[in-house]
Amino acid sequence: MKGILLAGGAGSRLYPLTAVVSKQLLPVYDKPLIYYPLSTMMLSGIRDVLIISTPAELPRFCELLGDGSSLGLSLTYAVQHAPRGIAEALCIGEHHVDDRGVCLALGDNVLYGSGLEPRLREAASQRTGATIFGYQVRDPSAYGVAEVDAAGRVLSLEEKPAAPRSSLAVVGLYFYDGNAPRFARELSPSPRGELEITDLNARYLREGTLRLSRLGRGTAWLDTGTPESLMAASAFVHAIEERQGLKVSCPEEIAFRLGYITAEQLERLASRYGSSAYGAYLRQIVREESAPHASGDSLVDVPVPTRPRVAA
Ligand code: TTP
Repeated sequence: MKGILLAGGAGSRLYPLTAVVSKQLLPVYDKPLIYYPLSTMMLSGIRDVLIISTPAELPRFCELLGDGSSLGLSLTYAVQHAPRGIAEALCIGEHHVDDRGVCLALGDNVLYGSGLEPRLREAASQRTGATIFGYQVRDPSAYGVAEVDAAGRVLSLEEKPAAPRSSLAVVGLYFYDGNAPRFARELSPSPRGELEITDLNARYLREGTLRLSRLGRGTAWLDTGTPESLMAASAFVHAIEERQGLKVSCPEEIAFRLGYITAEQLERLASRYGSSAYGAYLRQIVREESAPHASGDSLVDVPVPTRPRVAA
C-alpha cells in the first residue's frame, strides 16, 4: 500500500506562528511535526509516500526529506493550490493510488502508543473498503465524530457537530481501497467550500464497507492545530523521551529498526545533525546495535534485526 501525507492547509489557528512557516515544519519538542505522521506511515509498513503541500511550502519539505532514499523510502511531491479540503488529497494523488489502496495521513497528527503498530499493519493489509480510527476525547466538537453501536459498527459520521452524538473523534489517519480517488472526485464541496473527508468516509459507510478501529487509552492521539495543543504535544514528547531515553517518532531510527537502512547509513544520517542531541541519539543506536549484547530496546514495536537488511 502507498501513502499520501497531506501537509498543506492554512494553519490559521496558529497565526502568527504559521504566517511564513508551514504548520507541519514547526517543532514538536525536538523534531519537525511532519516526522510524526511520516513515522506512523513507516510503522504501517508504507514506504512509497506522496507528500502534498502548498506551492510556497512544498520546496521546504523537499529540502527536508528529499527523495526519501536515505531512509529507504520513496518520497514524491505534489501541490495543493488552495486548502480545498482533506479529501482533495485523493484527487491530487490519484495517479499515486493503485488497487492495493492508499493510506492518507494528516501532517499535523501525532500518534503514539504501545501496540499501535499491529493495528496499523492490520489496517494496511485490507484490500477492500476503508478503515478509520476512533479515539475518545473530552470535546469532540472540533473533529469528525463517529457514532457506533455496541458491536463497534459505525452508525453515523458528522463533521464538527455542535451537539456530538458520541465522544469518539475520527483520527487523521485513513486507510482506503482503490476506489477512494473516484469516490473523492464524486464529492461536492461542503458549505465551507471543502471536499470533506467525513463525506468520503460517509460514502464508504453507505457502501457498507467502513470499518472503525477504536484506539484505547493506551494510545496517545495528539492534535497540534492550536498553540495550546502544539505546546501540549511538545510537553508529552519531552516527558516520554526524557524518562525513557528513547525518541518518539524518529524516522531514522524506525528506518534502521525496520531494516530499511544499514548501521553505516544511519551513521551518515547522524553526521548531518552534527553535535545535536538528535545526532548523538542516532550515533548511540549505531553503537548499541553494533555491540555484541545489543538490548533490542525500542520505542517502536518492531523487531530489531541483529543484522539490518538493506532496503530492497
Ligand atoms: P485543519 O487543521 O483542518 O486545517 P489547517 O491546518 O489549515 O488549520 P486551520 O484550521 O488552523 O486554518 O487541517 C488538518 C490537516 O490537513 C493539516 O495538516 C493541514 C491539512 N490540510 C491540507 O493540507 N489541505 C486542506 O485543504 C485542509 C483543509 C487541510
